[in-house]
Amino acid sequence: MHTKVSTVSILLLVYYLFIASCGQNAEPPASNSVASSSTPNGEAIYKKYCIACHGAIGDMGMSGAANLQQSQLPLEARIALIRDGRNMMTPFKGILSEEEIEAVAHYTMQLSQSN
Ligand code: HEC
Repeated sequence: MHTKVSTVSILLLVYYLFIASCGQNAEPPASNSVASSSTPNGEAIYKKYCIACHGAIGDMGMSGAANLQQSQLPLEARIALIRDGRNMMTPFKGILSEEEIEAVAHYTMQLSQSN
C-alpha cells in the first residue's frame, strides 16, 4: 500500500512538471512571428515582401509602385500606408506584426536617405 501511494505522487509530480514546462515553452511563439530576436529586421522583411514591386533599392516601380528613393513621406505616414495599403499597394496589417511594419518603414527611410 505504501509503495502504491508513492508511485501516484511521483506520477503527479511528473505531470505537474510537464504542465509547467509546457506553459513556459508556449509563451514565446505567441509574441513574435518572423524573427527570433525581439527587434524585427527591417531589411529582411523588405527583401521578403516589398522587392517584388519596389525593387532591391526601392526604384523599380513595378505596378506603379512609388520610387522609395525619392519618397518624401515621413515615417508615421509610411507606417500607416504599409499597414493599410493604397491603390495598387496591398495592406500588410494581416501579414506583418505592428513591430515588423515599423521596422520595414524605418528601412525604407534609409533607402531614401542613400540618395
Ligand atoms: C503589389 C505591389 C507592392 C508591394 C508588394 C509593396 N508596395 Fe509599396 N507601393 C506600391 C504602390 C503601387 C505604391 C503607390 C501607391 C499610391 O500612392 O498609389 C506604393 C507606395 C509605397 C510607399 C509610399 C511612397 C510615397 O512616397 O508615396 C511606401 C513607403 C511603400 N510603398 C513601402 C512598401 C513596403 C515597405 C513594402 C513591403 C512591406 C511595400 N511597399 C510593398 C506597390 C507595392
